[in-house]
Amino acid sequence: SAQERLIIVSNRLPYRASHDAEGHITLERSVGGLASGLGPLHEQDGNLWIGWMGDTADFDEAEQADVAARLAACGCLPVLLDPADAEAYYEGLSNSALWPLFHGFPQFVRFDEAEWEAYRRVNERFCDEIVAVARPGDVVWVQDYHLMLLPTLLRAKLPDATIGFFLHIPFPDYETFRMLPWREDIVRGVLGADLIGFHAYDYVRHFLSSCRRIAGVENTSGALTVDGRLTQVDAFPLGIDYERYRQAARKPEVQRAAAAFAEEKGHEGCKVMLSVERLDYSKGIPNRLHAFDIFLDRHPEWEGRVVLVLVTVPSRENVASYRALKKQIDELVGLINGKHSTMDWSPVDYYYRSLSFDRLASLYAVSDVMLVTPLRDGMNLVCKEYLACHDGGGGVLVLSEMAGASYELHEALRVNPFDLEDVVGAMERALTMGTDEQRRRNAPMQQRLARYTSEKWAREFLDAAHGVKQRQAGMS
Ligand code: UDP
Ligand code: G6P
Repeated sequence: SAQERLIIVSNRLPYRASHDAEGHITLERSVGGLASGLGPLHEQDGNLWIGWMGDTADFDEAEQADVAARLAACGCLPVLLDPADAEAYYEGLSNSALWPLFHGFPQFVRFDEAEWEAYRRVNERFCDEIVAVARPGDVVWVQDYHLMLLPTLLRAKLPDATIGFFLHIPFPDYETFRMLPWREDIVRGVLGADLIGFHAYDYVRHFLSSCRRIAGVENTSGALTVDGRLTQVDAFPLGIDYERYRQAARKPEVQRAAAAFAEEKGHEGCKVMLSVERLDYSKGIPNRLHAFDIFLDRHPEWEGRVVLVLVTVPSRENVASYRALKKQIDELVGLINGKHSTMDWSPVDYYYRSLSFDRLASLYAVSDVMLVTPLRDGMNLVCKEYLACHDGGGGVLVLSEMAGASYELHEALRVNPFDLEDVVGAMERALTMGTDEQRRRNAPMQQRLARYTSEKWAREFLDAAHGVKQRQAGMS
């Protein structure tokens, strides 16, 4: 209807503020699948996006007001959190308990009651902010693991609202999830939504099994009844803005950047293997580097003829496990380059920074092979963006079975990232694959990605949420 408005709610807003070289405040696009997936939707429709203002330690009060005003001009309502609460909620409970547990890294998990209390307070804080601006008929769509209590908190205040929840990371099996001391609060916190979405059916299955075993809530084909109200659980795999990447790869400035890159690095006649990701232990970066080391040991004929461009984007640098990983990767890159480099060639071209959209598109376009080998990943959009930048052409995608995207991208060279031999073999196959086979594999994947875009994903989710509302009305 005309007055219906979408309110997107997530921890991370689609823009983050920082100081530029002259000390002025600038807004940059946030990195990550959530921001990439929902960003285009937000820009198009002028919806409201509510999220954390980010770490404000670098800003004085006047600057904070400036940041808030600029965000407001972009349709964003920033939530300012108490710094101690923000730390305990974001670095603590969200990224030192939920993220590692849900991705299957119990060794990085810390359960801390004070952090849980902060998580609860921040979710309540978000609830208050939403209630203050929500109008009847609004659709509130809560995103991701930082805000899993929010749907039920909102339901108590806005009983008739249309509330959606989407989890952008995997939902673990019951045996893993049951370790969480607050497992029942989390399950019940999410169940306040009308529609609960995941990237893949396996995550749906896991969630439903936890609903049954932890909260005693049974389901029929993903439909549950909670406090007499119908809730639906389903899979909605997130896509990309396919046209944007396809066209970017054809822009003259992107092609010039690609050519310049090839020349500057002396990559002419030398194959480029690329990986791009936030520096995160879920992404399997050390495994990939070990595999490349073995590959180089075994294949001296590739000396000087292949470069691994490794782009790692700084992420969650205040969390100890991320800092330790950074050190490990620095050392591994040093070892591999020290061992295999010649006077005019180094096998690993390593970056620790984020890239502009054009730069990223040019790197995708120039790369012969894309290595996406996470140990666990809810979806992974990078692999989809790579294929879009090679629309109608070759390029080889090596893709981990452990990424949600592998449910859709069967024609990629799929690997078990824990099996180094498998990864080494895939590197060789990718580097020697003929262009006919490359195109034959890519075409069906590209067709699927062009059809199932992020826009379509959002539309299907929101349509399904309205469908649940209609079914609820029919039942009462
Ligand atoms: N990305 C970016 N800048 C960079 C590197 C990556 O904006 O310098 C984007 C990339 O285009 C992709 C997203 O970050 O859309 C990463 O999403 P993905 O689902 O692959 O992984 P996540 O970071 O969410 O775990
Ligand atoms: C993943 C999460 C997002 C998060 C992003 C970047 O994609 O699912 O919720 O925004 O990583 O991480 P950050 O901690 O910087 O927001």
